[in-house]
This record gives sequence, structure tokens and C-alpha cells, in this order.
Amino acid sequence: MASFIPCHLPRVTIVGAGRVGSTLAQRIAEKNLADVVLLDIVEGIPQGLALDLLEARGIELHNRQIIGTNDYADTANSEIVVITAGIPRKPGMSRDDLLRTNAKIVVEAAKNAIAYSPNAIFIIVTNPLDVMTYLAWQATGLPRDRIMGMAGVLDSARFETFIALELGVLPADVKAMVLGSHGDLMVPLSRYATVNGVPITELLDESTINRLIERTRNGGAEIVELMQTGGAFFAPASATSVMVESILLNQSRLLPIATYLQGEYGLEDVVIGVPCRLGYSGIESIVELNLSDNEREALHTSAKSVRKNIERSQEMLVVK
Ligand code: NAI
Ligand code: 2OP
Repeated sequence: MASFIPCHLPRVTIVGAGRVGSTLAQRIAEKNLADVVLLDIVEGIPQGLALDLLEARGIELHNRQIIGTNDYADTANSEIVVITAGIPRKPGMSRDDLLRTNAKIVVEAAKNAIAYSPNAIFIIVTNPLDVMTYLAWQATGLPRDRIMGMAGVLDSARFETFIALELGVLPADVKAMVLGSHGDLMVPLSRYATVNGVPITELLDESTINRLIERTRNGGAEIVELMQTGGAFFAPASATSVMVESILLNQSRLLPIATYLQGEYGLEDVVIGVPCRLGYSGIESIVELNLSDNEREALHTSAKSVRKNIERSQEMLVVK
């Protein structure tokens, strides 16, 4: 008779059990991807959320472990660490306003987490995303293939959503790629956006495409303005789970990922969103697209603004 042999189950730690973190925990467990450790600075919150998620397991038909904790020792030997800890953007607040507070939180979280999971791959979600990813890279000393930021998958999903709504087509049939920083200077590439392979430039006129690009750039703020009490979290959690899945299942997906550049796209010593292959070892390669002059200029403008904030963050002496 075949016997059940327990095998090693991957473990994903999520630092920050707020709206993005707790929704991500749910996605990872319900997709049956990994056991989850949910860590927060507030006592009781991660423990309560973990218990709530555990109580849904029988209904959702999975058997993943979910632990809530305030102690980094419980995160030991995680394959992936996702950092969502920080404060979200409030109405009228730009992502860059968050810099000072979140820099301190992210650096501390990254240092604590790597001490217990030295072999983990890190995904940063906290805003301002590109700068936080740079600071976490500095704080951990990890090679760039093992530490990255999530934003492009979300921004691309938003662009795809607005294209699908405009055309009345199935969202899954729309594929788009948004590069650059996670902010007003992001770079949606309309040339690379298709509906089942048909370029959107053949389906929509230029002014409509520009309107959809503007809505994409404003995608996070649009939700903050509507909700008034925080930002988006369902789509951000879904987008992050796609990256977790691509790593754990070694899918080598080609995704827009915020990564440290060393000369690619003519950019140095900056973190910004570019297309990367993502698999079990982390970022397997950075794909250099043949950008038009305008697209390249937009990417460089975007990188310049991230670079400025990296310099501001260094002046704040966040990383010692
Ligand atoms: P939230 O306020 O619901 O959750 C943040 C959590 O972090 C709270 O539970 C808080 O107690 C915890 N926290 C604060 N300091 C901590 C510390 N030192 N250690 C551990 N936990 C700590 O916020 P939400 O909506 O979950 O957003 C989290 C972050 O993700 C924000 O910075 C937000 O701007 C960002 N975000 C980024 C996106 C992206 O595309 N990269 C998309 C959506 C949100
Ligand atoms: C978003 O784009 C606020 O970065 C967050 O929804």
C-alpha cells in the first residue's frame, strides 16, 4: 500500500500583516503554493489572521500551514520573504512622502528576515517601491538576482484591465508590459500591448490609448481617492502571488520586475522595473527590449527620479 511521505514544503514569510500582506497570505495558501508565516509588529493581529485563515482551510480545500507571529525566529528557513510592512499612502500623499517612515521599517525588516533565512529570495512591496527595493538590497547584501520589487505586474494588470474594459474583451486575452518606476513616471509600452497577439494600436486610436495610459499611471491614486482609508490590496496581492508562484514552481515567467541595474538599458546603480525571467533561483535574466527613443527617454526620466530618492534616502542615513 502506498504510504504518505511528508515532503519538504516551501515556506513563504510575509512581513506586514496588513491588507496586502494578509490578502497575499490567503492567495498563497489557497493556491496551495506554500506554508505561510505572517509577521507583524502589532501583537495579536498576525496570530488572529492566521487562525482565521486556518479555519477556512477545510472549506477552501487546502492543507497549508499558516503561522502568525511577532518573532522573526518563527520565519527561519523561508524560501521567500515578502516585505509589505509600512504605512500605506493616504489621500493627497505621494508615494515619495512615504520615504522616510517606510525606509526605516523596510531596512529593519530586511535585516531581521535575512538573519533567519539567509537563502531566501526577497520580494519588496512597500512603497515607494523602487527605493525600498534598493534599500533592502543594500541592507541584506544579497546578489541582485535574489532581491526584487513588485510593481510592474500590478501596473501591467491595471493597463490590461483598462484595455479590456475599453474593448469589451476578456481581461485574460490582453497582455501588456509596464516598465519604469512605480509612480507617475511609470512607462506603459503600448507597442507591446496586444489582445491575443493583435497590437492594441490596431484596435484603439492614439488618444484612447493615451487616456488608458494616464489612468494606469494614476491607478493606485484612483483607488486611494475612492477609499480614503488606504490603498489597493486585492490586485497587489494577486500580482505578488504571481511572482511567488513563478519562483516556487520554477516557471521562468517573463515579468516586469523592479531590479538593480548594472548597465542594462544604459542605467547604473538604480532599481527600476524591466522585463525579467523569474524562476527558482530568482531573476534568471534581464531582457533588454529594443526601445524606441521616446520609450528609452521615458525610462531614463523614471530612473532619474528614483535615483534622486535613493540619494535622499542615503542622506537620511537610513542604511548604516
Ligand atoms: P497596511 O497598513 O494595511 O499594512 C501595513 C502593515 O505593516 C500593518 O499591519 C503594520 O502594523 C505593519 N508594520 C508596520 N511597521 C512594521 C514593522 N516594523 N514590522 C512589521 N510590520 C510592520 O498597508 P497595506 O495596504 O497592506 O500596504 C502595505 C505597503 O504596500 C504600503 O507601503 C503600500 O503603499 C504598499 N503597496 C505597494 C504596492 C506595489 O505595487 N508595490 C501596491 C499596494 C500597496
Ligand atoms: C498602488 O499602486 C499604492 O502602490 C500602490 O496601488
